[in-house]
Amino acid sequence: MPQKPSARGQWKSRLGFILAASGSAIGLGNIVFFSANAYQFGGGAFYLPYLIALFFVGIPVMTLEFGLGAFTGRAFPEALYRVAGRKGEFAGWWAIFNAALITMWYITILGWVVGMFFGALGDLWKPSVALPAFGIAEGAVGNPVAYFFHMLSSWMPVVFVVIIWILNIVITRNGAESIEQATRVFVPLMWIFMIVLIVRGITLAHGFQGVMLLFAPDFSVMKDPQVWRGAFAQIFFTLSLGFGVMTEYASYLPKKSDHTQNAYITSLLNCGFEYIAGLAVFSLLFVFAVVPKASTISMMFFIIPQGIAKLPGGPAMVMGFGLLFFVLLIIAGLTSSVSLVEALTSAIHDKYGTPRKSTLMWAGAVGVIGSVVFALPMVVDPHLADNGTLGLTLTDIVSHWNFDYGLLIVGFVECVLVGWVMGPRTIRDMLNRHSTIQLGSSFDVLIKWIIPAVILFLLGWAVFGEFRGLYGVGYNAHYAARYSWMKYVPQASLIVWLFGCAAAAWIFTRKGSYE
Ligand code: PHE
Repeated sequence: MPQKPSARGQWKSRLGFILAASGSAIGLGNIVFFSANAYQFGGGAFYLPYLIALFFVGIPVMTLEFGLGAFTGRAFPEALYRVAGRKGEFAGWWAIFNAALITMWYITILGWVVGMFFGALGDLWKPSVALPAFGIAEGAVGNPVAYFFHMLSSWMPVVFVVIIWILNIVITRNGAESIEQATRVFVPLMWIFMIVLIVRGITLAHGFQGVMLLFAPDFSVMKDPQVWRGAFAQIFFTLSLGFGVMTEYASYLPKKSDHTQNAYITSLLNCGFEYIAGLAVFSLLFVFAVVPKASTISMMFFIIPQGIAKLPGGPAMVMGFGLLFFVLLIIAGLTSSVSLVEALTSAIHDKYGTPRKSTLMWAGAVGVIGSVVFALPMVVDPHLADNGTLGLTLTDIVSHWNFDYGLLIVGFVECVLVGWVMGPRTIRDMLNRHSTIQLGSSFDVLIKWIIPAVILFLLGWAVFGEFRGLYGVGYNAHYAARYSWMKYVPQASLIVWLFGCAAAAWIFTRKGSYE
C-alpha cells in the first residue's frame, strides 16, 4: 500500500499509544453498558458469547483496523480508499458520520453525568422531592431518580454538554500530542478509581455473592440469537471498532510497531477493565438488593447511585464514593469521545488539508448542536419522561440504529473490502513482518468468510426482530399518546440515519481526491 509522507504528528512512545487506544476503548461501555447487557442477557451466560465475540471477531478486527492505519498512515476513509478505491472511501466516510452521530449522543450522556456529579456534592443524597411535572410524589422514587429527572428537565444539560465539547476540543487541539498528554494522566487514574470501587464493593458483607451472580450461567438464554447479537454489538462498541477510531490512532504509529501485539494488549486491557467493572457493579447491586432494570441509562444514573447512597460510613463516605464514580465516568467518557472527535477531524484534514484548528472548531460547532438536540426533548416537555425508556426517546432510538446496526455494518464492509477486494494476505504479510505474534492463514479465513458471515446472520436476525417489534419501532407508544406524530420518530430516525450518513459520505467522497 502506498504511503504518503506524513506531517500528521506521532505518538511519543508505544506506551502513549496503548494508553490512548485503551482510553478510547474503555468508556461508558465498560462501566455501565456491559453490566446492563450482562444482566439483561442472563448474567454469567453472557460471558461465553462475549468471549467468543472477543477472540473470533474483536481481536481480529482490531488487528485489521490497526493494520489499515499503520500502513496507510491515514484516517479511515483514505485507508479504505487505498484498499478498495472510491467505494472503500465511501464506506469510510459512512463510518465516520455514523460515528459522528454517536459522538453527539455520547456527549449528551456525558453532560448528564456532569449534572450528576454536581448532584453528588449534596442534592443527590437528600430525601426525594416531589416532581409534579413527572407525576412523582414526594418520596415515591429514590432520590437519584428524582434528581436526575429534575436536572434533565432544566436547561443545565445544555450548559454541561457545551462544557464537555469544550473539553474535547481542548484535549484534541494538537492531535496525538495533546491526546497523549491527557490520556497519560486520565487512563491510570481511571484504573485506580475502578480498583477503589471494586475493593469497596467486594469487601461489603455479601458483596462476593453479587459477583457470583455475574458468573452464574443461565445457559438457556444462549439459544437466543438476540443474546449473541447483543454480545457482538457490545464487543464492537466497547473495543471502539467500526468507527474508524482505531485506524486513526494507529496511523500515528511508526510502521514498524508490533501492531498485532498492540491489538491483543488493547483488547485485553479493555475487556479486563470491563470485567472488573462488572465485579464492582454486581457486588454493589447485590448487597443493596437493588434489582437493575435492563436500561443502561438507569444502571448508570439510578441504580448504582442508589447503591452508593446506602454505603456504610456516613454521608462523607457516600459523597466521596459518589463523586469518585461520576468523575470516573467523566474521564472514561472523555478519553473515548476525544478519539471520535479526532477521527472525524483528521479524516477531513487528511483529505482537504484544512487546518486542524478550524476543522476542529467546525466539528465542535456542529457537534454541540447535535448534542443539544439530544438533550432538548426533556427540557422542552418534561412529560416525555417515562420510566420504561426513561423518556430519553431520541437517544434511545438513534443509538439503537448506530449501535445495533451501524457498527456491525461497518465491520462487515471492512472485512469484505479487505478480504475480497484487496486480499487479506497483503495486510497479514505486512503485520507479520514486525510482529512477535505471527498470524496464520486462519486470519484470512476469519476476515474473508467467518466474520462477514456471522455479522450478516446477526444483522439479518436483528432486522427480523424489528418486524416483531422487539425494539426501536414500536416501543414509543407512550410518546405517541402525547404527540401523535411521534409514532413516526423511529422510522424517521432510521431514514435520517441511513440516508443522512450516506448522503454526507457521498458528498465527501465526490468532492476532491486523494491523488
Ligand atoms: N469504546 C467506548 C466505550 O466503551 C465507546 C467508544 C466507541 C468510544 C467508539 C470511542 C469510539 O464506551
